[in-house]
Amino acid sequence: MTMDRYVITGKQRLQGVVKTSGSKNASLPLMAATILAEGQTVLTGVPRINDILNMIEVLKNLGCKVKFERNEMTIDTSTLVENTIDEELMRKMRASNLILGPMIAKNGRVKISRPGGCAIGTRPMDQHIKGLKLLGVTIKEKHGYIEASADKLRGAEIYFDVPSVGATENIMMAAVLAEGTTIIRNAAKEPEIVDLQNLLNKMGAKVRGAGTHVIHIEGVKSLHSAEHTVIPDRIEAGTHMIAAVMTEGDVVVENVVPEHISPVIAKLRQGGADIKIDGDSVRVKHQGRFKSLDVKTLAYPGFPTDLQPQFLALLTIAEGTSIVSETIFENRFQHVAELVRMGANITVEGRTAIIRGAPNLEGTFVEATDLRAGAALFLAALAAEEGTVLERVDHIDRGYENLEEKYRTLGAKLQRVVKRD
Ligand code: EPZ
Repeated sequence: MTMDRYVITGKQRLQGVVKTSGSKNASLPLMAATILAEGQTVLTGVPRINDILNMIEVLKNLGCKVKFERNEMTIDTSTLVENTIDEELMRKMRASNLILGPMIAKNGRVKISRPGGCAIGTRPMDQHIKGLKLLGVTIKEKHGYIEASADKLRGAEIYFDVPSVGATENIMMAAVLAEGTTIIRNAAKEPEIVDLQNLLNKMGAKVRGAGTHVIHIEGVKSLHSAEHTVIPDRIEAGTHMIAAVMTEGDVVVENVVPEHISPVIAKLRQGGADIKIDGDSVRVKHQGRFKSLDVKTLAYPGFPTDLQPQFLALLTIAEGTSIVSETIFENRFQHVAELVRMGANITVEGRTAIIRGAPNLEGTFVEATDLRAGAALFLAALAAEEGTVLERVDHIDRGYENLEEKYRTLGAKLQRVVKRD
């Protein structure tokens, strides 16, 4: 893994047009779902980012054949033989736990190393395990591995204590081949869940209700391959919109589903940005110093936790004092210390950050700790008075396709310094 750094010139007013890539958080479950189909499934609009490349490794490790040219991926699962994901692969990307459901449904057994926590939280899997057990899966957990097996999956009624995105996706994928009907209550409602339902139904599954808190799944005997285009990445789109306001710019973000990003549009408007929606494009114009406001992250359709770091960076130069509450993850303020190094005035009390707006940020040396914290620091560097060196760009490479190209097109001046470890 490279530990590259960015050298970013400050005070770059972003202007122009940027096209959002396909959604990372839709592509990962869609790739896992192809395990359920007989034959070759084609996914188009898949972003070429490291999390996707890692998921390809996971599928190849299981014996699948994967072709990925430009943004089109063909996955052939007819040679699926393995059913174990080793620790090294799991550590690289915890979303590989999304193979649990489809592997149990297809093969009747799977063994994954329990995905470690990450910078933002412990990332428990109790809801995944609770749902699988209710479907008739035997789960053994030892030596850091989760071993799951089932002779037959039977439909069940499952209530989630928290609307977990991953658990909802895993149970949907396990239940589509179960005998009988499964009802998931308190399901996550994210657009990525709806995208997964759409692919599963193209494969012959009978799933309805995704996007609401109750999802009905009628088990079928088998699923066939299909073709599917991934929805746009709402978190990438939101990142660009915040960047436009932070740099006092004027940017058109294309390939957006505005409804998927409505909380961010609402908050940017509340703070004084001028936002015009035109079909699948959103034009974001800075108009006067951004006004402070309060943000609370919630499960969809609330304000997305994945845009909390980026929005918090914007609030560091807003007029007045803002309060940001992070209700989803227990440790998602790693970007705060780095922003304080850039001259921001922030205090954190548990899951709440109090931000007193400063006139500007100062360029300095900062380090990304995780994907979205890295994105927040990237935006802060573009807005800062002087230049900034941003270490550990590998975190950002996980979730943003062609970031340098996209931002150079918008007028940013930045270099990537390759550092071989
Ligand atoms: C998905 O993670 C996303 N990742 C995350 O995006 C996103 O932040 C998160 O959903 C919330 O929207 C992918 O889709 C690949 P959760 P996931 O299960 O599924 C608790 C990014 O930056 N929980 O909805 O792991 C958990 O602790 C990443 O792109 C349990 O208690 O998130 C957390 O507090 C970061 N028990 C809350 O639910 C469980 O069994 C939400 O987690 C599962 C989760």
